[in-house]
Amino acid sequence: MCSIIGYKGNEHASTLLIEGLKKMEYRGYDSVGIATIKSGKLLIRKGVGKVAEVNKSLRLDELPGKLGIGHTRWATHGGIVDSNAHPHLACNSTIAVVHNGIIENYHELKDELYRSGHKFNSETDSEVIAHLLEEYFEITGDIRLSMIFTCKRLVGSFAFVAVFNSSTLCGARYDEPLIVGVGHDDYFLSSDILGFLNHTDRAIFLDNRDIVVINDSDISFFNFDGDRISRKITQVAWELGDADKGKYSHYTLKEIHEQHQTIVKSMDQDKKNLEKFCKIITDAKNVFITGSGTSYHSALIAKQIFSKSKIHVEPIMSSEFQYSADLLDENSVLLAISQSGETADVMHSVKSAKEMGAKVLSIVNIPTSSLARLSDSYLEVNCGPEIGVAATKSFTSQIALLYHVADLIGKKSNGIFASKDVLTKAIKQVLELDSHIESVANQIKGSKDIYILGRSLHFPICLEGALKIKELSYIHAEGMAAGELKHGPLALIDNNSIVIVIHPNDSTYGDTLSNIHTIKSRGAKIVGISNKKDEVYDYQITIPTINESLYPLIEIVPLQLLAYYLSICNNANPDYPRNLAKSVTVK
Ligand code: G6P
Repeated sequence: MCSIIGYKGNEHASTLLIEGLKKMEYRGYDSVGIATIKSGKLLIRKGVGKVAEVNKSLRLDELPGKLGIGHTRWATHGGIVDSNAHPHLACNSTIAVVHNGIIENYHELKDELYRSGHKFNSETDSEVIAHLLEEYFEITGDIRLSMIFTCKRLVGSFAFVAVFNSSTLCGARYDEPLIVGVGHDDYFLSSDILGFLNHTDRAIFLDNRDIVVINDSDISFFNFDGDRISRKITQVAWELGDADKGKYSHYTLKEIHEQHQTIVKSMDQDKKNLEKFCKIITDAKNVFITGSGTSYHSALIAKQIFSKSKIHVEPIMSSEFQYSADLLDENSVLLAISQSGETADVMHSVKSAKEMGAKVLSIVNIPTSSLARLSDSYLEVNCGPEIGVAATKSFTSQIALLYHVADLIGKKSNGIFASKDVLTKAIKQVLELDSHIESVANQIKGSKDIYILGRSLHFPICLEGALKIKELSYIHAEGMAAGELKHGPLALIDNNSIVIVIHPNDSTYGDTLSNIHTIKSRGAKIVGISNKKDEVYDYQITIPTINESLYPLIEIVPLQLLAYYLSICNNANPDYPRNLAKSVTVK
């Protein structure tokens, strides 16, 4: 999703801006632009395409000056065209703005500004910010006041950064992240610490309703009411920036291949913090659990693993949460799961839960994220930076940690902690099937529809496997509870169908086998993911035998690999699927 970077210091700004934007590319975007200030003059270049392409054609990094802002845009309001790319300029070209989020009242503001004589050059909601700043600067002649008055007029969610040709860099946030990077004698403003982590590990995390103004003499912080506030510097971990592909051709493949190590790291928790987290769950009358996309599938698994430990938790998809928020009260807990900790749907769920008086717990990969900072207690999955847009290692880490928590507070254990070594070995064994799975992908690459079936704990894995195939290969895939097939979807099955079945030899084996025969007799080709050899499968991916309740942790791995190789077969880029973003910060 959109990324922001700003710089003020003694270095050539555009080089640093381009470098920062490249570090944040994994978030997903469709256009790019930068603006710098040189000798009081505002210079701007922007266009549609990837950072490297646009830089090659427009030489963004040759813009002179030691102050500037940059942006990668993921279109929401207005098409993917050069004029809608950020930065946006005010009429007199003395102020430029980059923005993340959505300004909900932009129609009304645009009409008002239009009536005062402002001219607009884009279809975006973001452009109103530049004109509002200009309007208030003309009235007050004061940058701080124009920031405060502008922020007060905006409805929606935003992080924006502005440069004024008087050599000032400013930023403000409301429901979108914005972080100040503090260097030796320079400052960065970014939506993600990766934007500046190569240069400084000292960061100031702005809170909602914070404004920062950086001029030649100092840096100052205000709230939207104009009160001066102080903000602390946090030392962030350098390792967060340590993300390269190693020997792998894509980040996604590398991240899939890290999972035998990352699931173990997720169980390595500070004892006191873990106890606090667990106590909040045991003290609650009702436990709800929420997430989006892959993290929602973790929530579905959590329902089942907690129920095996005799704890009832209710999963609610974050984008649907607001319609059920009335169920929560001061005796409730909402456990929010999010790799990024910035997903707008998740953040809105958490805010609704807080309004109802509920406690908030979270499981995140980024400890400095907005979600972690808003939670009463949080746990980190510790899986390291996940760059591939489609979640892989963060999923297995989330569920390993959920098993661990369920076991610590439950009446009956799933036994994950004791099985760490067995699991590591089992995942390694599945990863060694890489080239076999590639050959299965080659056999089924032409399919238009793929169905994935399984029962009980395997059902959420079917949903996650189908999501991976859709995201990475653009093939339509559907995950289903195997028993539901006969209630409708069977009508779709014919000899062009590919059906993947998650079918370990456990308590679901017999019933799922009957479903397989029903499908097979209608001509479908079967891909079996199982630890038991069977001629009923046209292709088999053999997984090791492990403790029955832990199968989800290993059976998702062949599905991730299959999705990866299907994307390669279809000439898609698995790291950056079309139309998708890593961190979806709009509703
Ligand atoms: C986006 C990504 C998905 C991810 C979802 C939730 O939609 O494309 O892969 O599962 O966000 O992300 P989160 O960071 O909240 O886990």
